[in-house]
Amino acid sequence: MRLRRKPYAKQMVREHARVVNDPQKYKGKWRSVVFRNEHPLYLELGTGKGRFLSRVCQEQPDINWIGVERIEEILLQALNKSEELLVDNLRFLWMDVKQLPDCFAAGEVDRIYLHFSDPWPKKRHTKRRLTHRSFLHQYKSVLKPGGELLLKTDNQALFQFSLDELEEAGYKLVESTHDLYASPFAAGNIPTEYEEKFTSKNMPIHYLLAQPKSS
Ligand SMILES: C[S@@+](CC[C@H](N)C(=O)[O-])C[C@H]1O[C@@H](n2cnc3c(N)ncnc32)[C@H](O)[C@@H]1O
Repeated sequence: MRLRRKPYAKQMVREHARVVNDPQKYKGKWRSVVFRNEHPLYLELGTGKGRFLSRVCQEQPDINWIGVERIEEILLQALNKSEELLVDNLRFLWMDVKQLPDCFAAGEVDRIYLHFSDPWPKKRHTKRRLTHRSFLHQYKSVLKPGGELLLKTDNQALFQFSLDELEEAGYKLVESTHDLYASPFAAGNIPTEYEEKFTSKNMPIHYLLAQPKSS
């Protein structure tokens, strides 16, 4: 994603009604204080420009949706997209995914989506991949028992890496395919910005759903 820095983006993000500033304050209280309902809590990590969330929050109004994105210029595009939506089940966090355990209590999250995460192909950048075992352990610490992690990527190497790391980090694989669109898992699939780019070039999409093994 080529990025033009915008000096005003930080302030616009901070002041946007859908952005929760100081998310640590709501650890353990997302349902009771922020959303004020008992609906399941789903996170999309590395939301990008927000196409998936702006659609799914309308199609699934009984879910509390949170998008996490660390680059303010990109988040601003997701926020702009969300402005025309007449829903109250969507919030955004401007932060790094590594802050997740500071913001969510053990078992507070029902589902996590990882959509076309940056592949970080160089070996020395392995730890930056959002499916590195250190991240997978963090996700486990906030997911409820029976919670789910869903991943889509165009990148075969990242997909294989993720399968290996999931095994290592104590997840069980529930669904998996190297060609989402040729599989039964495509039913109800909502494409992201990156996904549309890749599918328009007829590239296959790798998909998996995993759950932390009960200890
Ligand atoms: C390749 S884009 C994919 C965007 C979107 N999910 C899609 O499928 O169209 C990856 C996004 O994840 C964000 N990202 C990467 N690492 C992150 C991290 N550690 N914390 C928060 N956001 C991150 C990037 O800034 C970027 O917007």
